[in-house]
Amino acid sequence: MYIRQNIDFYRFFNLIFLKYVLTLNYIFLILHHQRRSHLFTPLVYIDKNKYFRFIAAKRESSFSFGKQNENLFTAITMSFIVNRRDWLKSGLLASTGLALGSATTAQASTTYSSLGIFDVYAEREREIVQEALLAAAPQVKARLSSNENPWGPAPTAIKAIADNAPKAFLYAGPVTAELKKTIADMHGVTTDQVMLGAGSSELLMASLLLAATKGKVMMAETCYISGRDAREDGATMKTEKVPLTKDYQYDLEAMATRVNSETSMIYVCNPNNPTGVMLPSAKLKSFCDSVSPKATVLVDEAYIDYAPNPATDSMVECVRKGQNVLILRTLSKLHGFAGLRIGYALGQPALLKDLRKFCSGGFTVSTTSAAAATASFKDKAFQDMVLKNTIESKKFLCDSLTSMGYSYLPSSANFVLFPIKMKGPMLLQKMMAEGVSVKSWFFDQQHWCRVSIGTMDEMKAFKDAFAKSVS
Ligand SMILES: Cc1ncc(COP(=O)(O)O)c(C=O)c1O
Repeated sequence: MYIRQNIDFYRFFNLIFLKYVLTLNYIFLILHHQRRSHLFTPLVYIDKNKYFRFIAAKRESSFSFGKQNENLFTAITMSFIVNRRDWLKSGLLASTGLALGSATTAQASTTYSSLGIFDVYAEREREIVQEALLAAAPQVKARLSSNENPWGPAPTAIKAIADNAPKAFLYAGPVTAELKKTIADMHGVTTDQVMLGAGSSELLMASLLLAATKGKVMMAETCYISGRDAREDGATMKTEKVPLTKDYQYDLEAMATRVNSETSMIYVCNPNNPTGVMLPSAKLKSFCDSVSPKATVLVDEAYIDYAPNPATDSMVECVRKGQNVLILRTLSKLHGFAGLRIGYALGQPALLKDLRKFCSGGFTVSTTSAAAATASFKDKAFQDMVLKNTIESKKFLCDSLTSMGYSYLPSSANFVLFPIKMKGPMLLQKMMAEGVSVKSWFFDQQHWCRVSIGTMDEMKAFKDAFAKSVS
């Protein structure tokens, strides 16, 4: 349906050609009909920042559509698919005049960019664009680019969605309260040390925005958020990046010595994305002990469920001890909830209260997703099945890489990162042509490929596509 609309839209635009005018904030498009040039639509415009970000994302995913006009066509199509509401809103603004449109956007840009908000949004938009490209790919055999869990969600979670859907005319309060209690009991904390979010991204974004108001955010180079402020998004969040060690571990010693009065937050992703490498828990605990009195330690535990001993590998004990440590968790991975959007933060009540300045504090969570999450937490058999399958598929992937002459980093997550012998974007393009999506990185003067763990069939599709792509 999605793809169909996209194609129809293309056919429609194939009949026309474009002229455009660049202004401070917008690209104004004058759409002429090819055959009857006297016929042209009134002005349509797209946000210039969004357009350039879109083009940058497309360049990164190595999708070469060639001509500039084709880029614009695609951008328009994307605007319709991705952000119809904004498009309509901007249409309304256009009818009130260019001056008003520009002033409003300029004001918003100043306010949000000074907080660094574009850092976080840019990443989300880039992912949405990549998703749309993926949906339009010839024939997708394996989607191994976003660390999703192909075995989820649990049937018990799906049943909870169906059972709770009739109640969804009510606000989610009682259902989210039950989920919060389940999470608090599971981790041995109080309910006021738990904050829900529609995915952990929302809470991560709020944490960074809060930290940006207070000082610098320290992080590793490379980690989940280290590429964000490199984008052309006008962000001004101050960051301090500490290189990983030679074996791609967080360099906690170096980080501890660099913390000073300007540091407001230290972001530690454990296991790290994109490396999959995990810190020994005793080392990270002693880092939290010594550093958390000086600045908040944010531990992003998106992949902790795949660690050898999630309960003790987690830093939740630091929250229980009352330390200035904030843990972020998501159900997008082990529980297969990427599209259901449930995440949560564990931290001291005062810090969670502060976070509410930048997020709704859990009001974004729906009745159906919250009920599904509570059911999924109780379903240990489902979680065991996912872990067992993940281990089997991961072993197949690692053995396949070894047999093809590739080494890989030790992974404690549902993905594997390995160095490749060609440019990342080139590999992505070749893999996509074979119907397999993966992600690429460049760091430590090396191109890398990250493969998410999928079903055995998907791993076989990866192996075949990879063998063809590198031959
Ligand atoms: C390290 C890390 N943190 C946070 C997230 C965001 O997850 P979500 O918003 O789906 O909860 C992801 C997603 O892949 C991730 O890899």
